[in-house]
Amino acid sequence: MSGVYFHIPFCKQLCHYCAFHKSISLQAKDDMLECLKLELKLRKGYLGDTSLNTIYFGGGTPSVYQPKEIESLIDEVVKYFTIDANAEITLEANPDDLTEKYLQELSKTRVNRLSVGIQSFHDEDLILMNRRHTGKEAFDAIRRAQSFGFDNISVDQIYGVPGLSMEKWKENLELVFDLDIQHISSYHLMYDPNTIFTKKLEKGQLVEMDEEESFEQFNYLIDEARKHGFIHYEISNFSKEGYISKHNSSYWKQKKYLGIGPSAHSYNLEQREWNIANNYKYIKAIREGKSFSEKEELSEHDRFNDFVLTSLRTYWGMDLELVRKDFGEDLYQHCITKSKKYLLSDHVRQENNCIILNDKGVFVSNDIMSDFFWIEEE
Ligand SMILES: C[S@@+](CC[C@H](N)C(=O)[O-])C[C@H]1O[C@@H](n2cnc3c(N)ncnc32)[C@H](O)[C@@H]1O
Ligand code: SF4
Repeated sequence: MSGVYFHIPFCKQLCHYCAFHKSISLQAKDDMLECLKLELKLRKGYLGDTSLNTIYFGGGTPSVYQPKEIESLIDEVVKYFTIDANAEITLEANPDDLTEKYLQELSKTRVNRLSVGIQSFHDEDLILMNRRHTGKEAFDAIRRAQSFGFDNISVDQIYGVPGLSMEKWKENLELVFDLDIQHISSYHLMYDPNTIFTKKLEKGQLVEMDEEESFEQFNYLIDEARKHGFIHYEISNFSKEGYISKHNSSYWKQKKYLGIGPSAHSYNLEQREWNIANNYKYIKAIREGKSFSEKEELSEHDRFNDFVLTSLRTYWGMDLELVRKDFGEDLYQHCITKSKKYLLSDHVRQENNCIILNDKGVFVSNDIMSDFFWIEEE
């Protein structure tokens, strides 16, 4: 089973924390739609002979396109691929786009999962982030989507944001649980390069939340999510039983995916490819019949490091027997040595020969994963 990802590189406004590739000029929207279809046709052989169980519209803001435009992209996918009957078809949407009219039309398409960026329900946080909606508008947008029959909804939230007190974070979570949705993605704020937040931080206009406080927010999140029946199945992702995101899981379970659109990444088990993050150059190249991507052939050690990065993120963990089978005795012994260290410090646990991060380990997962990487001697 494989997936197709479409990157929709437009947003109506720039959020001050976000470094995803996008343009706030929507001028090239129609040209882009045409080129997404052309690229799909050009690269339809990339995944080999496989059927699809996920299609994901991410961004940027996919909801800048009307439902019938999104449906026309699904039609193109159906032309070239066999689609699983239970395929998960997700649209990332901004709350301000989810009007009655939009949802009514969307409910007639094959999109069966919504991922909505809430970030916070507190208006002062939303202003700081430069979002286009209030907290109440976001809450109402989810309720409206439910009234149109959407029963697989995920929301994005960010914690560790300057000014987000513990009390406010608790209120955010309470409202999210009230919504009775199926999936939550809760991200720790990252100060990505070239964002307004990072510039403000450097100028001293923003003060980073200290680690202890954001750790407390993270711990509260995982405790409350569990109490409300969510499975914490990946560092930032929580789902009700049966609603683990199939799309995200294909990244973490080393499945193949084809990424269409500027900046989109693809992976076919042997190569990683990524498209240029420039709308104009992308459109020009696709119109000339070239796909504008860079390729990297993966060495054995790259594949091992990818495996560490993807498996340790999840609650399925890293299967040591699989390491031995796929990567040989040396890398297996390397993993045993590292695992012992983190078992002793109580950052991981071992179940059925799988190494799984516990709550303490998840919070410092980046450090642990880098320590497991195999670095070639110069
Ligand atoms: C690709 S964005 C698209 C979502 C959609 N455009 C929206 O804003 O509603 C997916 C999510 O990534 C998260 N995100 C983006 N930049 C982030 C950052 N610097 N730190 C933490 N989370 C971030 C936000 O929660 C956002 O909703
Ligand atoms: S968070 Fe969403 S709306 Fe905001 S800039 Fe990023 S992709 Fe665009």
